[in-house]
Amino acid sequence: MANFDNELIRDVLDHADIVRIVSSYITLTKKGKNYVGICPFHDDTNPSLFVSPEKKIFNCFVCGTGGNAITFVQKFEKIPYFDAVRKVAELSDYHDERLEKKIFEKPKDAHLESLYKCLEDLALYYQYALTTEEGSAGVAYFESRNIDASMREKYMLGYSFPNGETTCKFLQQRGHSLKTIEQIGNTSFINGRLVDRNQGRVIFTICDNNGHPVGFSARKIDESDEPKYVNSAETDIFKKANVLYNFHRAKQSARSDGFIYILEGFLDVFALSKIGIDSSVALMGTALSEEHILLLRQLGVEVRLCLDGDAAGQSATLRTANLLARHQIPCRIVNAEGNLKDPDEILNQDGPEALKKYLNNLVDRIDFVLSYYQNRGANGSVSERKKILESFLPILKNTKDAFERDNYIYRLAKVTGFESDAIRKLVDSYELSPTYITAHQVMNKFQPEKKGLRRLELVEREFLYQMLQNSSAVVFYEKNIDGFYDEVYRKIATFLVDYVKECGDFELYEIIGALENSDIEDKDALIGKISEIYFEKYHPKKCDENLLNEYLKVINSEKEKIFENDMLTQSLKGKDDREKARILADHNRMRMRKEKYKKEGN
Ligand code: UTP
Ligand code: MN
Repeated sequence: MANFDNELIRDVLDHADIVRIVSSYITLTKKGKNYVGICPFHDDTNPSLFVSPEKKIFNCFVCGTGGNAITFVQKFEKIPYFDAVRKVAELSDYHDERLEKKIFEKPKDAHLESLYKCLEDLALYYQYALTTEEGSAGVAYFESRNIDASMREKYMLGYSFPNGETTCKFLQQRGHSLKTIEQIGNTSFINGRLVDRNQGRVIFTICDNNGHPVGFSARKIDESDEPKYVNSAETDIFKKANVLYNFHRAKQSARSDGFIYILEGFLDVFALSKIGIDSSVALMGTALSEEHILLLRQLGVEVRLCLDGDAAGQSATLRTANLLARHQIPCRIVNAEGNLKDPDEILNQDGPEALKKYLNNLVDRIDFVLSYYQNRGANGSVSERKKILESFLPILKNTKDAFERDNYIYRLAKVTGFESDAIRKLVDSYELSPTYITAHQVMNKFQPEKKGLRRLELVEREFLYQMLQNSSAVVFYEKNIDGFYDEVYRKIATFLVDYVKECGDFELYEIIGALENSDIEDKDALIGKISEIYFEKYHPKKCDENLLNEYLKVINSEKEKIFENDMLTQSLKGKDDREKARILADHNRMRMRKEKYKKEGN
């Protein structure tokens, strides 16, 4: 029945903190026992997604999407089930060799596969070139920049022979088609011959987030050449917006360091590595993209911005810091104002201690932004200055320490030219959004039909809630109820019965895992219903045999009523009015007699 190893899925889920995992995609706020956030699965404005750390499940009250950590990742990233399992394991720092098994490899796209293979061969070829006699020019260049052999190996540095045709010939010999070689992003036709545009340069290999080469950046050796760096063109597997240089290495150490530095260039990444900091990435001349944000968010560590100290670098810092703040990613900024050296230059000119000191001189965003405008003077229009002011309102409102807040307000007044008092009033009247509505309100608002649920459905729902909580209710169901009337509830109940027979006690998230992992056709609907029921309020806390017996009585009598009604409808079919009246009268007499009998019986 199961497509994957159920035990493996359970182990992954056991090690997963659903709050941490969901938080790596969206922002969650604590609310009682649960967490809430804006639901990413529909056009949500109020936080309607609930996450229970206790039960390890989530549910959106509005669109009904729900499940465990794997469901969330699978739906959010729109990736195959087993990739989501792996992703959850990775985000939980859980290693398990069963996850490595080849049988779980997703079917590969032949075109992409040939690009990957070709780039892998090319990366090796460039590294090989560095060991040849012709390659000594490359070695000399790296040595001149204090990049030794072990660094060259670690970062897959290389050299491209001055005759760019040799690159393409090598790749052809390795069995790559001309079509593929044309598509890897760094070859072009010159006078009818396919040549490597990186010829005569030193090579920086750019890898994707899994460490596979996807492109190259080639630096000039001869200072008179132009441009300084030749970058691979964007291809189907190389998109600058998706890649942060060195991310696949940095993600390992960043989790234990608790931070990651964002730098401008390759040489800066090496400089930090030389003083023992492996948690750094380089932007390679682009702006931070939404995809980059997602990568950083999933790391769940503090981002330390360390861009150039010149005007362009500082304005990029301002933009990036604000972007990170909007995505609620913790961020501090290396105070680089007025410093015109990059980390590589600081290390080479002033030594390791100077670089360490520089990197540790960190300021908060609010301090950075205030200094930024203080140094430049925010002498823009009123509306521009007002915009700056407004961007600070949430953070000021959240600054609980009155002295600290006053200090910021004072500086903000100086920067924007508005009166402190006016700013204070604005802060006081500012309302932090979003405002939360309760689950109950959402239900009434969006699912009014719930109020009209038939009594039978309500009680079956309550019963099912208890079944989801403990296996004894499942056993009770199997013994005493021959199937819920509601089809979805019945399917869930049957699944629970089977599961308990096989595995005994269970946790709710395991049930969801097993369901997901099953071949049941409408499993999504079942999972959605399970998490919906779980997050409903006002269920009786204590469940015992008495409660279940009470439920059972209601279920049986409600079923009987429905059955009778169905019978009645049947017998009224095609009858004339007089006949109908007689049948109805009979029916009512029988009902009354039954009720009376029941009352006397009790
Ligand atoms: P920089 O000009 O600051 O170069 O560009 P750098 O990293 O200090 O390099 P060195 O020390 O002079 O060798 C920062 C980054 O911008 C990208 C590169 O990725 C570089 O590392 N860049 C720069 C390009 O893509 N093309 C260029 O022509 C220049
Ligand atoms: Mn540099």
